[in-house]
This record gives sequence, structure tokens and C-alpha cells, in this order.
Amino acid sequence: MLGINSIKKSIFSFQKKEPFLLKFAYFLVLIFKFNIVSRFIINNHLKFFLSNKEDFDDIVAKYNLPKKEFLTKAILFKNNSIKNRSLLNLKYKEETIKAVKEIDENSFFNASKIINLEKEDIEKFVNLCSSSLAFNSTLPLTSDLKKKKIDKSVNYYSLDPGQENLKEFYMKILKNNKLREIINLYLGFSGELFAINTMVTKMDSKFRHPVTDMHRDFDDFHWITMFVYWTDVSKNNGATSIMSGSHRSTNTSDKEIYLEGKAGSVFLTDNLAYHSGNKVLKNDRVITAMRFGKALNPASYINKDYLFFQYFNDLYN
Ligand SMILES: [Fe+2]
Repeated sequence: MLGINSIKKSIFSFQKKEPFLLKFAYFLVLIFKFNIVSRFIINNHLKFFLSNKEDFDDIVAKYNLPKKEFLTKAILFKNNSIKNRSLLNLKYKEETIKAVKEIDENSFFNASKIINLEKEDIEKFVNLCSSSLAFNSTLPLTSDLKKKKIDKSVNYYSLDPGQENLKEFYMKILKNNKLREIINLYLGFSGELFAINTMVTKMDSKFRHPVTDMHRDFDDFHWITMFVYWTDVSKNNGATSIMSGSHRSTNTSDKEIYLEGKAGSVFLTDNLAYHSGNKVLKNDRVITAMRFGKALNPASYINKDYLFFQYFNDLYN
């Protein structure tokens, strides 16, 4: 049923101008969840995967598929891209190939050595985030849609993806050829940045978000996430954990690995793998998740990341 929240979300546009057709299409998606939405609208007005018609059809069908079936297809898609990669490998450096193999194997790669964040920048970033107004959930659209002061009333906050004073920090991370090479080789195509989500997690908050339970993300068939830690995290303090190898298996895997690291650590992960936020938190945590793949996909559409595509393009092109 279409509730008042769905209507609010369809109107919400981060105080940005949203083209009427997009707004209308979003409204339809909210009602019909892709499956009955006219493909004509999506194809013509959203230029949705025009170069990848088959993927697009599969994605539209996603909402008719049980999750297990979608997962099987996504795993097939991944294994196929690993096969195709052997042709691409020739173009890439040894260290890039090594990094990508690690993601294939373990579902993650510790990229801290290739991205050097300065201490001063890390401190500045944390201060800016803590004093920002933010949405009171892991994503702006799952919040009550109002920016508020960050306090202990909930445990997760997310910042406006286009927040101007954070742009220079994102830029420093993204202008990195080694990072770009790993992303492109892993994806098997030239990845586009399609989401930036900076989150502040408060310690001592009573409210718990379900993101701290084990789950898989289903953004698309193939995409990659980069986590940047702006504060120290460890197994007993806010580190995300991942079931190593489960992005290529319909099973859970029994190897739960905590992505631990000091402030400034960076991890590339395939979040089709089972992963979980951490229920234990000793300090407030600041973390940025950036996602790369085909820009317009079910997740970027549902979360309205498309409103920032121009901004993301400026940062990562
Ligand atoms: Fe997740």
C-alpha cells in the first residue's frame, strides 16, 4: 500500500531541483516496484542501461525474482566476468591483478597502502562531519528526511551526499589511478561512481539499526564498494565484518573476517558477500562508503543517488 512515507519520499529531492519526469517515474517505482512500470518510460527517459539491454531486462525482472534466484544470477555474472578478465589482464600491472584476485578470493582487499590520507585531513573531515546537520538513518531516504544535529537519539546518521565542504576530501581519494585500475579490472568495465554515503555512528545510543545484522546488498549484479575509515575501528569497536568468499557462493561461508584498521584505512569490498555492521562501538565512528559500477542501477534509482550523478561525475572522471 502507498503510505504517507512513500509519498514523502517521492517528493523528497535533497532540496535539489528534480526533473518532473524523474520524480514521476520514481513515484511509479514506489507503487509498482519496477515490474509493472512501463519499460518505455525507463528506457526513454532514464537511459537505463541502454548499452546493456540484457542486464537491464534482468534487473527489471529482479523484482519478480525470489532473492535466491537473483543471487544465483549475480554469481553467474561474477564468474563470467572472472573468465573474461583473463583477456583484460594483459593491460594491467601485476599489483592490480593481485588486488583483484584477493577480492575474488576473499570478498575484500585492504587498499590502505594505495590511498594515503593525511592525518590533518582525517581530523578535519571528522570535525566537519560531527558538526554537520545529518539525516537520522544509514541512508537519507530511510530517515525522516530532515537534517538534524547529530546526537545520541539514534545510532546512525548519514550526510547529504553532495555536501560541499566534504568535496575536496572525496576528490583527494578518488584522483588515484591505482584505485581506478583495480575497480575497472574487477568490474570488467569502466566503473562509474554512483553513490557516496558518509555515516556517523554514535556510541551509547539505545536505538539499533538492522544494518548491524548479517545481510547481502543487492545493488546490482556487479558493483564494488569502497569503505574509508575516518576513525579507528577494530573487532571490538565498530569494524564491519564480512563472510569471506560468500560473494561467489549461495552459502554463508564460515570465515567471518573483521575489516579492522586505523583512521585512514581503506577497503574495497564486494558487498554481495554477507556482511554486517558492528553492534559494539566504543567511540563515535565516521566512515564513507563509495560505490562503483553502472551508475543507474536498482539501488541508485531507489536511493535517489541519480540526483548526484553530475556531482559524482565531476569527482570521478
Ligand atoms: Fe550492507
